[in-house]
Amino acid sequence: MTTTQILTSEQLQQKIDRLPRLKIAHLPTPLEQMPRLTERLGGPSIWIKREDMTGLAYGGNKARHYEFEMPHVADAGYDVMINIMDYHSNNARMTAAAANKIGMRYILVLRNAANRQVQGNLLIDKILGAELHLLDEYQSGDAQGYANRLKEQLEAEGHRPYLIQDHLFPRIVGMVGFVQAGIEIRQQIEENNLKNVHIIGVAGRSLCGLIVAAKSMGLDWKFTGVTVNYDVPLPDYIFRHNRDIQELLDLPVTFEESDMRVLDQYVGEGYGLMTAEVAAAIHIAAQTDAIICDPNYTGTAMAALIDQVEQGGFSSDETVIFLHTGGLPAVFTFAEQLANFKG
Ligand SMILES: Cc1ncc(COP(=O)(O)O)c(C=O)c1O
Repeated sequence: MTTTQILTSEQLQQKIDRLPRLKIAHLPTPLEQMPRLTERLGGPSIWIKREDMTGLAYGGNKARHYEFEMPHVADAGYDVMINIMDYHSNNARMTAAAANKIGMRYILVLRNAANRQVQGNLLIDKILGAELHLLDEYQSGDAQGYANRLKEQLEAEGHRPYLIQDHLFPRIVGMVGFVQAGIEIRQQIEENNLKNVHIIGVAGRSLCGLIVAAKSMGLDWKFTGVTVNYDVPLPDYIFRHNRDIQELLDLPVTFEESDMRVLDQYVGEGYGLMTAEVAAAIHIAAQTDAIICDPNYTGTAMAALIDQVEQGGFSSDETVIFLHTGGLPAVFTFAEQLANFKG
């Protein structure tokens, strides 16, 4: 029988420290209680990890990702980044901010963005100086082709463009930011003497980074991932990369699909379309513990948390930690729906 080697926090930290890092996030982010939400729901104790407070143009999970991803891109000699995202994307905004930090030119191809009000993330993209290509509905069907042509043009001009969607490996490098967060959360959990930890958040790379950290350190934290996007199936998005992160950090373990309970019943009509439950959850989190969630990602995860507590999806002796991954400017894109919401 083989026994899996367990790493101490220090040993895991040493492995992370071998990678180049750009310190752009405000760390550690707080781990704090949500006493009023806990009381309102009458379930297990609810805490929140404030990844919305990382800084970097309104904060979010990508600040940690880019600490590791940006040096990787810069060291490889690229001189311009191209990103294809949706018009309200948080990723688009935070990539613009991270690119500015290293003085990298940044071209943003935004789907379904033509004739939109310049508000929320789109406004911040503009202020940050991203070179915007706002595609209409028709062009958006071939956003990748559009970006490929831009890339070819730049190459013909002698540039070294880095089209983010062509490179999967740096996304894995970015996950290391959340392995790092796992060490941070462990310390905060110990300081607060929390038991039976169950972390819930958007099902994505960030949560998987935490899973890798917890398993590597032999911790028994449980994980629930909330699906927000029908377009990108999780197996394609993250699970095909589990061995990559194991190799990248030379870890004794990796994450597996079975490590995360996946909830996909809260997506609603699809990405970018806010459900009534999400609008309600945004108001509940705000009106209890003054936490602002976004309409796409963290609002959906908060709606899932509330519903799961109500349905008995957590045991009463668990400490539920909500991973708030940011996305704040998106509330302004959904201003009308949120302002007219009658809960
Ligand atoms: C607010 C927010 N949370 C979570 C995610 C999921 O990101 P990841 O899969 O990198 O964890 C995103 C993606 O852009 C996001 O904007």
